Amino acid sequence: MDVMTAVLTRRSEHTLRAPAPDDEEFAYLLRGASLAPDHGRLRPWRWILLRSGERAQLGLRIAEESGADAAATEALRDKYQRAPLSAALVFAPRGQRIPEWEQLAAASCVAHALMLLLHAREYGSIWRTGQLATSPGVGRFLGLRGSERLLGVLDIGTPEAGTAQRRRVPDDVSATITRFDDLARHRPDTAPQAEDG
Ligand SMILES: Cc1cc2nc3c(=O)[nH]c(=O)nc-3n(C[C@H](O)[C@H](O)[C@H](O)COP(=O)(O)O)c2cc1C
Repeated sequence: MDVMTAVLTRRSEHTLRAPAPDDEEFAYLLRGASLAPDHGRLRPWRWILLRSGERAQLGLRIAEESGADAAATEALRDKYQRAPLSAALVFAPRGQRIPEWEQLAAASCVAHALMLLLHAREYGSIWRTGQLATSPGVGRFLGLRGSERLLGVLDIGTPEAGTAQRRRVPDDVSATITRFDDLARHRPDTAPQAEDG
């Protein structure tokens, strides 16, 4: 699959079934994704893979924290078992030399690259955040250290036949692009000076 096709056809897939990549295939794909833009080549991220019953623990931690009753606890447990593989993306900023926002941008780039590589292999994925990303209980359960922060999980698997999301038609975003010479024409300080004589 060429890059343009991958970008145009990737969708967030909500219904994911087995198979998902095994540990070895995930590592292979991540190795490719790790070449995403990364100022200072810091790799300010790490991944924690959760499979089968381990994923239910995420929901149980959130249920515990929110004081959910038995029915809500069960719903939360099921909610976090929606895919055969949940890859938790941990933001692990490294030092002050590169501003933190740039490191966060690098972590986002690697996630997108990974989603495209998964898609090119006919796996589906969706980046999920919500309560997960802010829950101290989930952070403790995953063993986050120091300044680390959970950026959510990528749920990964195979889109169920018939449920795969339809390709989106890209919006016309040309209004977000300004040619600098158009901008300059409307600014007296940068307007071209009339030539003498
Ligand atoms: C940082 C981030 C967090 C997201 N969190 C959620 C989420 O919690 N739940 C969800 O259903 N989708 C989540 N998404 C997926 C977006 O909703 C989705 O990408 C968007 O609707 C566009 O759809 P598409 O990916 O199919 O093109 C998240 C995406 C990003 C980049």
